[in-house]
Amino acid sequence: MKDLISIIDVKKHVGETVKIGAWLADKSGKGKLQFLQLRDGTAFFQAVVFKPNMIEKFGEEAGTAKFDEIKHLSQETSVYVTGVVKEDARSKFGYELDVTDLEVIGHSHDYPITPKEHGVEFLLDNRHLWLRSKRQMAIMQIRNAIIYASYDFFDKNGFIKFDSPILSGNAAENTTELFETDYFGNPAFLSQSGQLYLEAGAMALGRVFDFGPVFRAEKSKTRRHLTEFWMMDAEYPFVTHDESLDIQEAYVKHMIQGVLNNAAYALETLERDISKLQKYVDTPFMRVSYDDAIDLLQAHENDEDTDYEHVEHGDDFGSPHETWLSNFYGVPTFVVNYPASFKAFYMRPVPGNPERVLCADLLAPEGYGEIIGGSERETDYEVLLQKIVDFGLDPKDYEWYLELRKFGSVPHAGFGLGLERMVTFVAGTEHIREAIPFPRMINRIHP
Ligand code: 4AD
Ligand code: MG
Repeated sequence: MKDLISIIDVKKHVGETVKIGAWLADKSGKGKLQFLQLRDGTAFFQAVVFKPNMIEKFGEEAGTAKFDEIKHLSQETSVYVTGVVKEDARSKFGYELDVTDLEVIGHSHDYPITPKEHGVEFLLDNRHLWLRSKRQMAIMQIRNAIIYASYDFFDKNGFIKFDSPILSGNAAENTTELFETDYFGNPAFLSQSGQLYLEAGAMALGRVFDFGPVFRAEKSKTRRHLTEFWMMDAEYPFVTHDESLDIQEAYVKHMIQGVLNNAAYALETLERDISKLQKYVDTPFMRVSYDDAIDLLQAHENDEDTDYEHVEHGDDFGSPHETWLSNFYGVPTFVVNYPASFKAFYMRPVPGNPERVLCADLLAPEGYGEIIGGSERETDYEVLLQKIVDFGLDPKDYEWYLELRKFGSVPHAGFGLGLERMVTFVAGTEHIREAIPFPRMINRIHP
């Protein structure tokens, strides 16, 4: 309604009478005072109801009845509240509302998520309601600020949004984590990444990006894995691997700065250490080769504070290795040139070293793990065909992709960022399940 204002905007209306549409998150009070914790999706703040004010406005009988009605409102009742905005130095939010009138819109009874502590399975079963809590609101606001900053970055840097399909006839990443579905009698797969299609887009339009849901039948139950998550892929022609890292670094910094600029209330709500985020914007990211990282991990494996297993050149990292590495550097860190053996078929080998590929994972600091995977792509038709065969894939499924190497093949590179990994990192939350409205995990598809 056009006469309503948002809670986040009350600071612009100090001393004025305003009307707010909200839900009652919590309530306390004694005697002639009631303290209502209101929320409207933009912020939470306190409204104070003083019985003598009600009586003054509505008369003894009606004023008392109004005050009693307010006193008995239950959690999540929806209300229109009218009142005067006051500065309030004692509250963290800085403002409160001196209520002059309150109108109930919708009643609420026995709301299951009471202000006490609840177990996470219970909260996940009630995700449709859990989203209303302060923390969840803040995380969703950060998610939104990241999406907004992401579009802003791509727009400012000459990228075109190119929507890759969700249903696909071939695997983009690997065949072990594919969701298969019946497509009119033939198998089809839910997209794991839009990358292969974006490569076609890059040859048609130059710099392109996509942003959409992707699916991986992850059997692992970790705090970093979802089976449905959102990925931003970007792809660009005439760009080498090093230049690609520059683009990724600028992109991640732009998103962090965007959250600092546009989601300050959410960061404060989550008590995120803002000085750390600002440091990641202001400090160059680290770049270390996979082999140097292995040497470093070996050199420190007997240190007192390390708890990762021994790794050899050629081994993949586990999350303890990633955590240790990123903490060692204290800033987002690109690990470059991993072994070809556990990376995807489309990555270009390091010139002169076919056992390593021109790729990078960006590891977020503070233990948040990999947020980006990217690489320079193989451009040679014959080499790529051989790789497809070596990886046990059927070249027929990749005919169209191989053709991109037949008609004016050029050096090109790209990357994919996992939105929920980025949200978890920037919000400083522990588990990825809170970074998406309705998480999908191995044991959860409801609600
Ligand atoms: O490293 P990945 O597998 O790379 C690709 O899919 C490439 N095709 C991207 C490209 O070059 N265009 O996935 C990219 C990112 C990871 O770095 C991680 O952030 C996220 O996607 N990710 C997941 N996020 C949540 N749950 C999962 N199961 C994820 N798997 C990957
Ligand atoms: Mg990866």
